[in-house]
Amino acid sequence: MLTVALPKGRLGDRVFELLAQIGYDCPEMREESRKLVFENPAAGVRYLQVKPTDVPVYVERGAADVGIAGKDVLTESGAAVYELLDLGFGRCRMAVAAPRGFQENPDRTLRVATKFVNIARAYYAQKGRSIDIIPLHGSIELAPIMGLSDVIVDIVESGNTLKENDLVILEEFMPISARLIANRSAYQFKKDSILNLCEQVKGAALT
Ligand code: PRP
Repeated sequence: MLTVALPKGRLGDRVFELLAQIGYDCPEMREESRKLVFENPAAGVRYLQVKPTDVPVYVERGAADVGIAGKDVLTESGAAVYELLDLGFGRCRMAVAAPRGFQENPDRTLRVATKFVNIARAYYAQKGRSIDIIPLHGSIELAPIMGLSDVIVDIVESGNTLKENDLVILEEFMPISARLIANRSAYQFKKDSILNLCEQVKGAALT
């Protein structure tokens, strides 16, 4: 039995529909419930409904054999997992944004609001820029508007959130899409099942 960590939300729903089509269906998943574990022994699959940012943790520690995570979440987690496949959807990018007209003063520490603390630190470290991270969990765009930060580091998909809050992109630096990841030891012990799933997902995701 393969245990799959699915991120709750739109991405997870899309991946589940794809998996269901290629033989990993689990009808119980479609019922309205608060359950978090769903099994279909006949299809050899068990699904875990996980908060998106927790998927790499479940997979790294072996509570799930495989999982689906955005490249943003995966990079931020630093989890030691195998990245098997780029699913090619869930596309967005990581960007630095600021209020329109923002002028950076290189003599001052830059205040950066973000959910992606590790990604932001690495990005500015490589530029040799000293920053003060302001960690937030959502509505990041609000921070520079209210003077809580100078800039934000966040994902941009349609660009609507930035636009509606009068923020502009200063730099884009990381293309993001959904990835299929695997636990390192599960990849050895359940290699055939994992590779089989990976090949089928690849065929279905790219068509
Ligand atoms: C994400 C992200 C941006 C927005 C980008 O937030 O943090 O705010 O989506 O999408 P867009 O470019 O299509 O507007 P999310 O919806 O996850 O909500 P959050 O504010 O709770 O993080």
